[in-house]
Amino acid sequence: MINVSKIKKGIVLDHIESGTAQVLYKALNLHKVDDTVVMMQNISSSKMGKKDLIKIETDYDLDFTILGLIAPYTTVNFIKDGERVKKFQMEMPEVVEGVLQCKNPRCISNYERTVPTHKFYLYDKDKKEYRCEYCDTLTTYEE
Ligand code: CTP
Repeated sequence: MINVSKIKKGIVLDHIESGTAQVLYKALNLHKVDDTVVMMQNISSSKMGKKDLIKIETDYDLDFTILGLIAPYTTVNFIKDGERVKKFQMEMPEVVEGVLQCKNPRCISNYERTVPTHKFYLYDKDKKEYRCEYCDTLTTYEE
């Protein structure tokens, strides 16, 4: 297997569902990071069979709502001075604001510009479905 060196500081996103790192890379705007970013796909994993992994060698302000929406089973590792100082497991966010768009063309959120906030509530974890607060239509994240 290809060996990618450990990082001095930053964030390692581990156990990303295989095939998802590329979508995450785009959605998290990682192309805008000036420091080293490594994306690996289809690494063999004892737990998952195959997994993807992303290393970001800087203290990047991650959007955890987007991360949770796209890759809810990711392990987030924070690295400082070459050591892992914190680790946690993502979960699907219960409430999502400002990321999803309602699928219903007649929903007020799609024609009324003055709607201030637009919340979606987690409806089905397995299907990654969210319910629109205005019209109850179920929506999933579109790449
Ligand atoms: N890692 C890194 N740089 C470091 C420390 C860790 O890139 N300075 C990466 C490792 O390569 C690994 C992930 O962060 O992909 C988690 O590393 P580790 O703390 O060694 O935990 P593991 O036992 O590999 O994973 P887990 O505890 O989540 O099962």
